Amino acid sequence: MRTIALMALAVALSSGAAFAAGHDYVGAEVCKMCHQTPKSGEQFQKWHASKHAEAFKVLLTPEAAKIAASRGVKGKPSEAKECLECHVTGYDAPASMLGPKFNKEDGVQCETCHGAGKDYMKNSIMKNPKEAMANGLTLLSVKDGSAEKLCVTCHNKRSPNFKGFDFNKMWSQIAHPVPKQ
Ligand code: HEC
Ligand code: HEC
Ligand code: HEC
Ligand code: HEC
Repeated sequence: MRTIALMALAVALSSGAAFAAGHDYVGAEVCKMCHQTPKSGEQFQKWHASKHAEAFKVLLTPEAAKIAASRGVKGKPSEAKECLECHVTGYDAPASMLGPKFNKEDGVQCETCHGAGKDYMKNSIMKNPKEAMANGLTLLSVKDGSAEKLCVTCHNKRSPNFKGFDFNKMWSQIAHPVPKQ
């Protein structure tokens, strides 16, 4: 029984069916529509000014080529799964799940942290956290530690030149709260 279940799972994964229950990515340019005003907290501008927005471009540098060579990664770092997994959003999603405005060159985008947004980005859904979560939003919190847990999936010893991760210091560089009304 167990073997059959595992085989079915393997088939499902290899045919891409694992994404069937998932949600499509839209890209930071789409989140920007509603998250760029001072009233909303200018999340787009804060992200755009952060290194996360440069995470793909950094893979095109000579330094990246050196790191890749030293790890035995074949081919260009900007095309290697071993690098893209932490340097772009949705690196393993099939092209059919990336919306027309999605651009992998935008690096580590909103949807890396908040979940693929096509189904939760409607105003009526976004205003209701429970409904947004039911439609793919990952609700994160600094207080309960879920934010830090997410950071260290990339900020860890597998990243080049890793020198430890001080959450409070790093979060203060990318915080993007909605201002109190
Ligand atoms: C059509 C407008 C609209 C779009 C597009 C949109 N949002 Fe929102 N978003 C809102 C509104 C309205 C709220 C709730 C009010 C607020 O807290 O600012 C919100 C709240 C949020 C929250 C806080 C949720 C909570 O309850 O703590 C997150 C996170 C978020 N949006 C992320 C995104 C991301 C990521 C995208 C792109 C995939 C996106 N939004 C696209 C309008 C939008
Ligand atoms: C486990 C996630 C992860 C993987 C895999 C990964 N990186 Fe990174 N990379 C990071 C993080 C996180 C940083 C930011 C480092 C910091 O500020 O602590 C980074 C930074 C960099 C930088 C900038 C270095 C600097 O000091 O400014 C380059 C270049 C880079 N990575 C190249 C690569 C290449 C090439 C690969 C593939 C061989 C790769 N990375 C694989 C997570 C990763
Ligand atoms: C590196 C991960 C990361 C990225 C990238 C990111 N966020 Fe967030 N975001 C978080 C975390 C963590 C929180 C929870 C903060 C807290 O608990 O105070 C958050 C909170 C928010 C909130 C709610 C803020 C509040 O005060 O209620 C909004 C809205 C939001 N993000 C929108 C965006 C948008 C839009 C983008 C892209 C332009 C984006 N985020 C990019 C991690 C991220
Ligand atoms: C999907 C992987 C990923 C996740 C998740 C992630 N980061 Fe990053 N982060 C990176 C990469 C890659 C870079 C380096 C980009 C570059 O150098 O251009 C980076 C760079 C940074 C930098 C700039 C560091 C510097 O040297 O200037 C800060 C600050 C940062 N991240 C904070 C966070 C925080 C806080 C979280 C969690 C809320 C987080 N990151 C989650 C991949 C990630």
